[in-house]
Amino acid sequence: MAVKKIVDRVFSVGAVDWDRRFFDELIPLPDGTSYNSYLILGGERTALIDTVDPEKEYELIGNLKKLNVERIDYVIANHAEQDHSGSIPKVLELYPEAKLITNKKARDFLIDLLHIPEEKFKVVQDGEELFLGNKTLRFVFAPWVHWPETMLTYLVEDKILFTCDFFGSHFATSRLYAEEDAKVLEDAKRYYAEIMMPFRVQIRKHLEKVKALGAEVIAPSHGPLWKNPNFIIGAYEEWVSDKFGNIVLIPFVSMHGSTWEMVQYLSDALQERGIGVKIFNLMQMDIGKFAIELVSAPTLILAAPTVLAGVHPLAIYAAYLTNALRPKLKYAGIIGSYGWGGKAVEHIKTQLPNLKIELFEPVLAKGLPREEDYRKLNELAGLIFQKHREARIIK
Ligand code: FEO
Repeated sequence: MAVKKIVDRVFSVGAVDWDRRFFDELIPLPDGTSYNSYLILGGERTALIDTVDPEKEYELIGNLKKLNVERIDYVIANHAEQDHSGSIPKVLELYPEAKLITNKKARDFLIDLLHIPEEKFKVVQDGEELFLGNKTLRFVFAPWVHWPETMLTYLVEDKILFTCDFFGSHFATSRLYAEEDAKVLEDAKRYYAEIMMPFRVQIRKHLEKVKALGAEVIAPSHGPLWKNPNFIIGAYEEWVSDKFGNIVLIPFVSMHGSTWEMVQYLSDALQERGIGVKIFNLMQMDIGKFAIELVSAPTLILAAPTVLAGVHPLAIYAAYLTNALRPKLKYAGIIGSYGWGGKAVEHIKTQLPNLKIELFEPVLAKGLPREEDYRKLNELAGLIFQKHREARIIK
């Protein structure tokens, strides 16, 4: 990433990772990502906010050199995860006078994850300020975005809030600021859904804290910055709200076509009742797209056959993932075809302990579905319609 000036004496100095295709070896990154790091030149002291993934530390160091940075007094660690903290050891090696500023929980993580000596740290409290000369940093604790130690840093005079993962998006771009379009919003929603949705109760509280600060720019450590904070704050408020869309998600796997036949029938029956449907083939599902839909879906129907006398492993994976993401789902059901043995329902149920859902009666067909099975699928579509209406999802 080229050095980019945000305001006078405040620069973005991180790295764009155009080629990265997975995060945590789990989350697809169709548009790459960035690791934003920020340099603040106070009148008396210099601070660096977050660093970059160690794969890209040469870019960060190169940018500091371009700005002729000879001394860094403080490195601020908003979050201990290695995509932001991984280059701290290198920065401390090059700038040995620097103190590492963070909270106690993050300090303990950083000692474990990166073996940074304890004497390098200065631990700060929630609300504490650090004066750099003409510029003041205020630390705002925001635990569980998405780790327990996360905090935000507010540059008081310039009204810039550095939020690390919060309001971020995995989007490699040469632009400094986000365009306010559907693509930017989808990237940010994908990011929220993948890592923050399990903590939406905490996120809701943090949004109030952020609004009270009155920042004029939000500068996350992934993706573009937000010049109009209300745009992204408003989107987050929608995502963490209790509002639902009138939609049913159907992740499916089908071995010989029988389960797929049931999926198509149920999908048609739902659409005929005015209910939207999103179908995901578990063989090639982008879990980010699935997570996005889970943000506001009230109903999930898992469709899978039995294999090796149990439910298909891909269905277990989908159920496990849904459980881990803790969406605000209200209803779930299972449909599928079996040849012999029918343990599918029990297997899937055990994967969903985190969710407070009403589980519908499963519809399981022996082999290719018959009239009786289609009748049950039709009844299931009717029941979903009724539930959506009772919950005022259908007005
Ligand atoms: Fe971008 Fe939680 O690290």
